[in-house]
Amino acid sequence: MDEAIGRYPPDRKRSAAMPLLHLWQEHFGLIGDDGVNWIAAKLGLQPINILELVTFYPMFRQKPAGNKHIRVCRTLSCAMAGSYQLMEKFREEAGADKNYSIEFVECLASCGTAPVCMVNDELHENIDPNSAAEFLSNPQSAIRIPQSAHPLEHRLIFKNIGRDDWKIDIKTYLRDGGYEQLKKAVTMSRTDIVNEVKTSGLRGRGGAGFPCGVKWGFIKQDEKRPVYLICNADESEPGTFKDRYIIHEDPHQLLEGIAISCFALNARTAYIYIRGEFPEGAKILERAIEEAREHKFLGKNILGSGFDVDVYIHRGAGAYICGEETGLIESLEGKRAYPRIKPPYFPAVLGLYMCPTIVNNVETLCHVKHIIAMGGAKYAQLGRPNNTGTRIVCVSGDVQRPGYFEIDVGAVTMGQLIYDMAGGLKWGRQLKAVIPGGSSAKVLRADERFKLKQKQPDGSTIEQEMSIDEIPMDFDSLAAAGSMAGSGGVIVLDDSRDMVWTLNNINEFYAHESCGQCTPCREGSLWMKKITDRMLRGGGVTEDPRTLKTIGDNIAGRTICAFGEACAWPTQSFVEKFPEEFAGRATKPVPPPLPPEYTPEELIERETIPTSPLAHDPGWEKAGADAVI
Ligand SMILES: Cc1cc2nc3c(=O)[nH]c(=O)nc-3n(C[C@H](O)[C@H](O)[C@H](O)COP(=O)(O)O)c2cc1C
Ligand code: SF4
Ligand code: FES
Repeated sequence: MDEAIGRYPPDRKRSAAMPLLHLWQEHFGLIGDDGVNWIAAKLGLQPINILELVTFYPMFRQKPAGNKHIRVCRTLSCAMAGSYQLMEKFREEAGADKNYSIEFVECLASCGTAPVCMVNDELHENIDPNSAAEFLSNPQSAIRIPQSAHPLEHRLIFKNIGRDDWKIDIKTYLRDGGYEQLKKAVTMSRTDIVNEVKTSGLRGRGGAGFPCGVKWGFIKQDEKRPVYLICNADESEPGTFKDRYIIHEDPHQLLEGIAISCFALNARTAYIYIRGEFPEGAKILERAIEEAREHKFLGKNILGSGFDVDVYIHRGAGAYICGEETGLIESLEGKRAYPRIKPPYFPAVLGLYMCPTIVNNVETLCHVKHIIAMGGAKYAQLGRPNNTGTRIVCVSGDVQRPGYFEIDVGAVTMGQLIYDMAGGLKWGRQLKAVIPGGSSAKVLRADERFKLKQKQPDGSTIEQEMSIDEIPMDFDSLAAAGSMAGSGGVIVLDDSRDMVWTLNNINEFYAHESCGQCTPCREGSLWMKKITDRMLRGGGVTEDPRTLKTIGDNIAGRTICAFGEACAWPTQSFVEKFPEEFAGRATKPVPPPLPPEYTPEELIERETIPTSPLAHDPGWEKAGADAVI
């Protein structure tokens, strides 16, 4: 416990609340009043400061779980691959056995090997619902062998993944030229490193695509307050599963990127905020940090440069909103992950402990090492103008070979990605739609024509009309097509998919994950979910598609953080792009269009409109005794 507290500044002990809660739960199996009181006293806080964390973060339990606690992913790619059937089978097989507790959880960042579940701390992939009984009696850890590169790939970040001779220890990394770029960086001036990153044109790989060098440029060279670097390893956007593989397969690459970035920013402390569902990843990183310290790549006076830097792991506990950078910072400060309003709380100005803070995604930070190796200008030649470098795209859903592919940004089209790299659609199926950048990205319909302005290498712009297959996989093209490249999670839907079902699954995710601070997001995400749920159950009323759109329109742009857009865009785009399917499920003439629970009885002429609570699945709300089935 004291070691965990020592990872934070002495006057910021509250930050240790989540690490202490994890330790307590690992030891005692749950967090009761005694745990709450003990941790509060240890950190000099009120019990309510601890209790509010236990009730906010889904991974903390107030009641015991079974010896084998199973978390089944219920989010889109897993649901498409049979996770609801898997849950049913688990209930049949283990329902009466008190050794087991089972719950549905949201995306476990392994969508390419759906359906997946965790048994205690271990991830299990590609589970066949029909083999649930065998799985329970012998839950082999089936983490998939890394994919080797497709000819259309250009592997920079994933260059070591899948190599026969590759191990993740520091010796192997050093033999491969590891930490050479850190050695080079500490001989450069800070301004030169930041300028190289600016020249490279690197855009953030976490979702928003903000230019990394520009962000770094917000940190003043003569900053008097401590500067922090936070590596965002929360990877929770449904459809995205790249950071997990970087952490598992090449942790030193990430640490080298972090060390170079810290040197450039004069940040003497970096935190890696890793989602709670990556316990193995956290252990791998802890070991790698230890090795890097032993070799003087981290710690005091690194490589004799006079620069001190420490890197610490901070584990989340199951809340998607911790991926949003200001929610993440609140969480790292030991509070509920309530995003902060921008302005004034831009992290680079008022971030962790109100100090300047740079938050970057795992993949973004890995690129820094390659920019130092190649030089910013050479790196900028990879990809396309304004969309430079390589990026990892993750393909899941209705394709033959789901997986991750590292491409020169924009060098591959959507068609090549789906049909060549991911093996095409399942036998006899046609493409219906693609969600190109994680589940918050607006859906693209397969038969749409897109008018895209394409920047040419000489700086001129031409407008081209193209099909979905022809869209280049880059930031600007996907934005011009009306969606976004986002976090690189491409979810493919074939013609067997019901769009109301699909949207309902997505809506359930956002309704569950809203932090609840803003009324439009908290209420709207729930209404949208309740309406699509009612439509699925045969109770859709004619006004429902319009109501859904109105709710979406009244969330986007009216909230503290971009989760508002993230939850509104799927509804807005699905209803707009697939009006016939939504109309087909909205046939009951019940004016006026009120949310289901407020529809007065007298307006429901003879027809019963089914309604549903948010969580209609057993054990979905919380792990623990209530969830034992
Ligand atoms: C609702 C929401 C969830 C997010 N989740 C993640 C995430 O899981 N991982 C991530 O790197 N960025 C996530 N982001 C983006 C971060 O706020 C931030 O922009 C990013 O970490 C910055 O790093 P980058 O510039 O390297 O992309 C999320 C943003 C929002 C609005
Ligand atoms: S938009 Fe949603 S997630 Fe973001 S702060 Fe508001 S309620 Fe929380
Ligand atoms: S791991 Fe199940 S949807 Fe992502």
